[in-house]
Amino acid sequence: MKFNITVLDGDGIGPEVTREAINVMETIGEKYNHQFIFTHELIGGISIDQKGTALPQESIISSKKSDAVLLGAVGGPKWDNPSAPVRPEDGLLAIRKELGLFANIRPVSVFPDLTYSSTLKSETLNGVDFVVIRELTGGLYFGKPKRRWKNTRGRQAVDTMRYSEKEIRRVLKVGFEMARIRNKRLTSVDKANVLETSRLWREIAIEMSNEYTDVAVDHMLVDTASMQLVRNPSQFDVIVTENTFGDILTDEASVLTGSMGMLPSASLAQVPMEGTKTMGLYEPIHGSAPDIAGKGIANPLACILSIALLFRYSLRLNEEAAAIENAVQKAINEGYRCADIARDGDNVISTKEMGALISSLLK
Ligand code: IPM
Ligand code: MG
Repeated sequence: MKFNITVLDGDGIGPEVTREAINVMETIGEKYNHQFIFTHELIGGISIDQKGTALPQESIISSKKSDAVLLGAVGGPKWDNPSAPVRPEDGLLAIRKELGLFANIRPVSVFPDLTYSSTLKSETLNGVDFVVIRELTGGLYFGKPKRRWKNTRGRQAVDTMRYSEKEIRRVLKVGFEMARIRNKRLTSVDKANVLETSRLWREIAIEMSNEYTDVAVDHMLVDTASMQLVRNPSQFDVIVTENTFGDILTDEASVLTGSMGMLPSASLAQVPMEGTKTMGLYEPIHGSAPDIAGKGIANPLACILSIALLFRYSLRLNEEAAAIENAVQKAINEGYRCADIARDGDNVISTKEMGALISSLLK
């Protein structure tokens, strides 16, 4: 089969890790007889430099025509001035909105061989394997009004947390369906003791739980959830929550795995279990890591694991997805590490070597 993939390499280590992910895709293509047509387009700081905008029209058009989008990372100190009219992150928010990517899927599973790289005790990390579904196109990030002004009492600012029933229902559906194909436990995270949007969220979650009687649902306040994530993380199977809560909780959850360099993500425009192919954007959780950019030492595994999600959700090629995940597991088991997770005695290898290793394990 033939697939079109738009690659938004972005800034810093972005192009270094997407290059390895693309090589892995080519290897899969040879082995399983698929053809991939990659179109590279701009996003983030490099796009601001070249086009004056963080997401040019060509990037949107190409992405919309593709089967899936692969993204590296955006941002860097060069574009960090808080009063700049346009920031690299604007490109990320714009592509999410343009493609309607309302469900952000962030799996958190701990590789038993890597527990040493977490700051948490390894017994706390035993059996940790859950998925966070974060709502991605609503809430405080996009709600209007969103602005600043000045009056006699000084500077003022407002952001708006707004959610419609439709927005809540579709992302909760992803949570319920995901729980159904996993261990049938769903934790819906909100702040229903304070926020009106959360009360609506919880009301809808309770209504939907009547349609999903096979899924055990609990409702957890976000402050409690943030505590439970480090206290007893193996209790979770699927967590579903709104945009800002999900942003914060997923950074916290990344600590469990020790390295941001191991965590993939998928952002989808449809409930992935509805059978049809889903438009999606796939990116590692980590940022552009400007301090190590250009050194060839970045860990490409999060980006490579994101490709596995791309195969699973956008191309519906489960066997290929599992093959990639197994190859990554094997590389870790055999003691190969990039610098971010290496200890004395490990085989420390470069970005390119890790990419080549995964490809060779796939052949
Ligand atoms: C993320 C990031 C982004 C977000 C930033 C870079 C805009 O933190 O993907 O989690 O807040 O969504
Ligand atoms: Mg974040």
